[in-house]
Amino acid sequence: MAKIVILTGAGISAESGLGTFRDKDGLWTKYDLNEVATPEGFAANPALVHEFYNARRKNCVEATPNAAHAALARLEQALPKGEVIIVTQNVDDLHERAGSRAVLHMHGELAGALCAACDHRWPAPAVMAPADPCPACGDPATRPDIVWFGEYPYHMETIWDLLRGCDLFVSIGTSGNVYPAAAFVQDADRAGADTLELNLEPSAGVSDFAEARFGPATDIVPAWVDEVLSRR
Ligand code: APR
Repeated sequence: MAKIVILTGAGISAESGLGTFRDKDGLWTKYDLNEVATPEGFAANPALVHEFYNARRKNCVEATPNAAHAALARLEQALPKGEVIIVTQNVDDLHERAGSRAVLHMHGELAGALCAACDHRWPAPAVMAPADPCPACGDPATRPDIVWFGEYPYHMETIWDLLRGCDLFVSIGTSGNVYPAAAFVQDADRAGADTLELNLEPSAGVSDFAEARFGPATDIVPAWVDEVLSRR
């Protein structure tokens, strides 16, 4: 059972050049999330939705992990296997590219394609289009393997088990606006875990955390990891 559960959001990848959603200049100030991040939006205009995720996939391939991703990978490697697990809302693969192994993508991944007809999954090509056939059933129902608003996040039973069994829950770079992730701090707190927020500024749920530290992720995450490792 993991002892430290780390929830990450767009803020941890911000300094790698990937946009956040709700900050000034965030993605949801430029795009209508109902058009590009809901099943209804995809049904209405699949070409627009693919264009949006093709662009994000390109940004992701061009980005590199930053010091915050690297610090979390260092923490995992320094502690016994299974003691640290990352639950990320991010659809980029920067945690994995930094060296983290125990990562659950609750909102899916840009690197994945999903057939809306038969649920087959395969690695996403760089550019996807509505007419692409599913390699398993042949249906032109290819979609990004992303959990959209109104859909059920992945790995939820595992995540709730982890939250119930952890000693420390840390939330990094998430605004605390999207459920169920926004309630994880309460789940962990109810289970008796210590709770810590690391963010550029206080999130919507900051008052639920026992402790909060503010600053850019590339400063405060490596500093926190150093502190944890120095206590071991
Ligand atoms: N370092 C630390 N935190 C940062 C940094 C930084 N350099 N830059 C921004 N932040 C913080 C912001 O202060 C904000 O609290 O990151 C947070 C980003 O919030 P959102 O844009 O709302 O992103 P996130 O919380 O990950 O969104 C959750 O919403 O639309 C969806 O599915 C999408 O997974 C996403 C979910």
